[in-house]
Amino acid sequence: MVMLGTASEKALDEMLQYAHDTQHEKIIRGLAVGISLVMYGKEDAADALIEKLSADKDPILRYGGMYTIAMAYCGTGSNKAIRRLLHVAVSDVNDDVRRAAVTALGFILFRAYKQVPRIVQLLSESYNPHVRYGACLALGISCAGTGSLDAIELLEPMTKDNVDFVRQGAFIALAMILMQQNEVQNPKVAGVRTMYEEVIKKKNEDALAKFGAVLGQGIIDAGGRNVTISMQSRSGHSNMPAIVGVALFTQFWYWFPASHFLSLAFTPTAIIGVNADLNMPEIEFISNTKPSQFAYVPATKPPTANVVEKVATAVLSTTAKAQAKAKRAKGTETEAMDEDEKPEEKTEEAKDEAKAPAKPKKEPTFEKLGNLARVLPAQLKYISFDKEARYVPVKKDVTGGIVVLQDNRSGEPETLIPTTTATATATAVTADSKMEVEEEEAPLPEPFTYPFDRE
Ligand SMILES: *[C@@H]1O[C@H](CO)[C@@H](O)[C@H](O)[C@H]1NC(C)=O
Ligand SMILES: *[C@@H]1O[C@H](CO)[C@@H](O)[C@H](O)[C@H]1NC(C)=O
Repeated sequence: MVMLGTASEKALDEMLQYAHDTQHEKIIRGLAVGISLVMYGKEDAADALIEKLSADKDPILRYGGMYTIAMAYCGTGSNKAIRRLLHVAVSDVNDDVRRAAVTALGFILFRAYKQVPRIVQLLSESYNPHVRYGACLALGISCAGTGSLDAIELLEPMTKDNVDFVRQGAFIALAMILMQQNEVQNPKVAGVRTMYEEVIKKKNEDALAKFGAVLGQGIIDAGGRNVTISMQSRSGHSNMPAIVGVALFTQFWYWFPASHFLSLAFTPTAIIGVNADLNMPEIEFISNTKPSQFAYVPATKPPTANVVEKVATAVLSTTAKAQAKAKRAKGTETEAMDEDEKPEEKTEEAKDEAKAPAKPKKEPTFEKLGNLARVLPAQLKYISFDKEARYVPVKKDVTGGIVVLQDNRSGEPETLIPTTTATATATAVTADSKMEVEEEEAPLPEPFTYPFDRE
């Protein structure tokens, strides 16, 4: 990562040499992935190395070769790279290499994500589960945050795959695609969310699939639903941290903690208006679409104490029946009433929710937003600034993120949005305070022997 995209010959030579010398699988794998990062964005200049790695007799280095294609040609849509990956995907003798080759397609094609479902369709029906898994990840990576229905359609059957890790891949990919999508934008969201819950709850579900559902639940709601994964920056450039983050994330196959690398790929979806001094003035702008279009998915309600109790005790249906009988016999009507009331409330709520979309007249057709607003990428085309307002964006088309504003009444007093003390102390690290922090560092622990004596 330190030499990302440098193509440093010295580093590559040494890494390759050491990968051939050492016997340790983990070290070889680390070097293989490291080599791919050094070649980030190098395209043709990486061809010789790709050739060399792909022909290596060590499958871990061939695996590195596939990631080198992914990194060197990320976002280029290069036909040469795609052909090579597709060839390896169906011909290599090693499953890991084939999986990596299919996964890598997602990195090459994220700009043309609409093509990906068509390209991986056959692979998603492969008899080889590793190829199917690769197809899942390729779809998830290329279509992340888009809500692509074609991709979801290919992934849905794989959520019921008879191989546990394919289900895992499908769960993760669906979450990446459905980030920040709500019911209004995408009718598939609710089903996928319930599916995660069911898989996690299921007692006899395989651990790998369950892990996929757990990760899926985290990814779909990542950053409090305020972030997305996008391999492209707002201006269409390759988003390097996201690409590297996702590439390292996919290494969780070998080591689960690597899944944390996905946080590198999260981009906040917000509009933050700043003035010439990079302070945030109070502004107002309009989102010219109904608020529900891009609203938050309602938060999952924590289970009430009542529900928890029920889950814990409902072991056998016969026991439950017997208990209910006993209750009735005792005449403990209060409890029974409680239980009867709850579902009624819920159904009423559900009815209201179901009715809401049927009465669009009630909902306003636009929404006023203030500074520091959550604005999704798909929402940007509905954003407009009043031309008469005091602050207008310097750049005509608003691309989200930090928007530099022009003050048409400079000189007049400004109302600024204060930054909280917490962030101020955390970020305002001047040279002096840095010194202080370093001086205050905790002392090194005393020497000790391990394992500890237990006395
Ligand atoms: C998400 O954004 C909203 C609105 O800007 C904010 O209130 C909320 O705290 C954010 N959530 C997280 C987890 O940062
Ligand atoms: C704001 O200032 C810009 C540049 O000075 C000018 O083009 C624009 O017309 C001004 N808008 C208003 C409403 O005064």
